[in-house]
Amino acid sequence: MAIRLGDEAPNFQADSTEGRIDFHEFIGDGWCVLFSHPKDFTPVCTTELGYMASIKPEFDKRGVKIIGLSVDPVADHVKWSKDIEETQGTAPNYPLLADPDRKVADLYDMIHPNALDTLTVRSVFVIGPDKKVKLMLTYPASTGRNFDEIVRVIDSLQLTAKHQVATPVNWKDGEDVIIVPALSDEDAKKKFPNGWKTLKPYLRLVPDPR
Ligand code: BEZ
Repeated sequence: MAIRLGDEAPNFQADSTEGRIDFHEFIGDGWCVLFSHPKDFTPVCTTELGYMASIKPEFDKRGVKIIGLSVDPVADHVKWSKDIEETQGTAPNYPLLADPDRKVADLYDMIHPNALDTLTVRSVFVIGPDKKVKLMLTYPASTGRNFDEIVRVIDSLQLTAKHQVATPVNWKDGEDVIIVPALSDEDAKKKFPNGWKTLKPYLRLVPDPR
């Protein structure tokens, strides 16, 4: 059955460029981004994996581990990493899972045969410390992802996991947030004693509570 938001991220063991990985052990107590790409030695994937390596410090800062996957074997990942470094300036500094038998790809429904017959599409799963799936994205092979958006989303996920707020359209870290409608004005007064701006009774803006 397809994975849905809030489901536990299925566990698996697989080989990677950093050795054998048990996925749940890898996640540990932190956050994780699992992302698939269709194939090694392909142009869009080369740019994506290099960029992901260049912004790894942003994930580290937020306590997020990143891990890539394709259906190619580890030996190809290792060889291709040199091309990524040469062309993008950064080699993958995170593990790349090998999935030649498509075990993980099937578990995570990363093969969409009507889009790309036997290769993984560009899937992204953000998984929380409770091992539950917090966000899923699926892009076609022809379109490289915006990994800055994944960092932005993680800021929202981490904030909204701790505070009774939601983030508005195009929100960025530090901007005003929305008090969730489930919180009454009376309860909101206790949580946000400095007050908020009411645009409508259901649209109350408050500074980032952190
Ligand atoms: C690419 O990464 O450029 C790519 C991979 C598979 C199919 C098409 C494009």
